[in-house]
Amino acid sequence: MGLTYSEGMSTSILLNRHKLMIYDKSPELIASLSKIPDFDVYDKLEDCLPQADVVFLAVKPYHCEFLFEEMKPMVNNGQIMVSIMAGVTIEKIQENLGIQKVIRAMPNLPAQVGKGVTSFTESKEVSRVELLMIRNLLDTTGESIKVENETFIDASTGISGSGPAYVFYFMQAMLEAALKMGFSKNDSKVLVSQTFEGAVELFNQSDLSPDSWMKRVASKGGTTRAALDSMEDNNVKELIKEAAYAAFDRAVELGKEE
Ligand SMILES: NC(=O)c1ccc[n+]([C@@H]2O[C@H](COP(=O)([O-])OP(=O)(O)OC[C@H]3O[C@@H](n4cnc5c(N)ncnc54)[C@H](OP(=O)(O)O)[C@@H]3O)[C@@H](O)[C@H]2O)c1
Repeated sequence: MGLTYSEGMSTSILLNRHKLMIYDKSPELIASLSKIPDFDVYDKLEDCLPQADVVFLAVKPYHCEFLFEEMKPMVNNGQIMVSIMAGVTIEKIQENLGIQKVIRAMPNLPAQVGKGVTSFTESKEVSRVELLMIRNLLDTTGESIKVENETFIDASTGISGSGPAYVFYFMQAMLEAALKMGFSKNDSKVLVSQTFEGAVELFNQSDLSPDSWMKRVASKGGTTRAALDSMEDNNVKELIKEAAYAAFDRAVELGKEE
């Protein structure tokens, strides 16, 4: 995810590419990233962190304590920390690093193809101008929404953060049905992916809700109605909502475990 942001930000007109510094602890990753001409890669934190204005924190949540310990002697109060670590609170970052300006963001996987959505919120010490600048950087991987507080960061984990997996789950079910009906692997893939892409495009290009679109596709006594009735009978919509809440609850739980 850190690399995805680096790639996105390296295209930003706000940022001189050569001012983007990447640090990772893995020697293999550093060696492979060093071959990319666009990136300035560092293997020592002390060579990059002290002169950074904005720092993106993109390690797994369970690695953060170790990272904070390493970073603490090298950070200063003018720096803005942007954390994408699930469940790690702004307060925890402030306390562990002894700094004030923190933005907490929740991205999602389609950021890798410039179609991500990131929700974000900030500590009160971050100015409006700084927030605008960071938002522009986040937007290099797709779109962003500013949320009121950290509860919405955990909630967006349940919708957009984990959401791509729900879509893949639905896709997998349709692929399996297509294969069972006798389509080849390749034809099944085209049928399913084009159906998803087309439905999303229709949705994006109109003001209609998904419910209204369903009514347009499904006529009384028809094939689509038969499928939708089967889903309703099996309570599929409620189960999907429950799944989203399970992810939300887990994000809150992870924050407490931290
Ligand atoms: N992937 C997603 O779709 C997604 C969505 C929303 C939020 N997030 C959040 O994004 C964060 C990163 O996720 P990811 O999937 O990109 O994880 P990842 O692939 O494990 O990347 C983290 C990188 O940080 C390195 N690292 C660990 N500890 C370090 C340290 N002390 N100093 C420097 N580098 C260190 C890791 O090296 P090693 O591999 O050697 O440990 C690894 O290369 C997580 O906190 C996650 O909650 C991810």
